[in-house]
Amino acid sequence: MDVLITGANRGLGAGFVRHYLQAGDSVWACYRNDMGELSSIHSERLHPIHWNVATDLEPRGELPGMLDLLINNAGIYGPGKDGQSLKNVTAEAMLEVFNVDCVGPLRVVKHLRQRLSGGATIANISSKMGSSGDNSSGGTYAYRAAKAGLVIVSRSMAVDLSKDGVRVITLHPGWVQTDMTHQTGLIDIETSVAGMSRVIERVDEYEAGSFVAFDGKVVPY
Ligand SMILES: NC(=O)c1ccc[n+]([C@@H]2O[C@H](COP(=O)([O-])OP(=O)(O)OC[C@H]3O[C@@H](n4cnc5c(N)ncnc54)[C@H](OP(=O)(O)O)[C@@H]3O)[C@@H](O)[C@H]2O)c1
Repeated sequence: MDVLITGANRGLGAGFVRHYLQAGDSVWACYRNDMGELSSIHSERLHPIHWNVATDLEPRGELPGMLDLLINNAGIYGPGKDGQSLKNVTAEAMLEVFNVDCVGPLRVVKHLRQRLSGGATIANISSKMGSSGDNSSGGTYAYRAAKAGLVIVSRSMAVDLSKDGVRVITLHPGWVQTDMTHQTGLIDIETSVAGMSRVIERVDEYEAGSFVAFDGKVVPY
């Protein structure tokens, strides 16, 4: 398969890169600043691409001809601690996180639209934090709103692209030991990536645009 992954220089993105390279696939791995973990992966099937999904700037690097799988993984949490409380959250923080986490995947899909073959899959990495049904603790305005927006955007993509045979799924990785969680997650990157890639393989078993966790369970939103 030909696979493109955004935010691939560390965390879950780098985990996806290792997973698909190990499976024998060709991987276009996107990074916004430095190559990070990609520098230490030596494979002829690895194609690094410089791509900041928060801007409309053209990606730099050779894009694949046709893609079988696109993983919109790049994301930010936004201000930590109580920086996203009702008292402290700012319009600027709301817009910054929305731009990366919700508009970013849309930008990437619009850019790669003509390279998505019939039978291709788009996996948009959201979060249970974007589920209204799962929100009993409040707060975290910017991240929750941006990830909820992505669920909706993803569903529209699923409807619009189904006529071209492109499948779209939204994923929740679990709470994972990465920089985003300050390594405090409940599961490691390998477990999360193995689970999410199993869901991607079984995409046809889910309704188009479903929101599914790494363990295969549908997330109510
Ligand atoms: N970890 C969890 O428990 C968890 C739970 C639910 C959902 N998620 C979601 O899973 C995805 C991956 O999270 P993670 O835990 O691996 O986070 P992470 O360790 O913080 O990594 C985030 C990645 O996204 C990249 N990125 C951020 N802004 C970008 C931009 N504008 N353009 C391109 N790349 C950008 C980062 O690049 P730089 O190195 O340049 O910053 C980095 O590669 C995110 O969408 C996150 O919201 C994670």
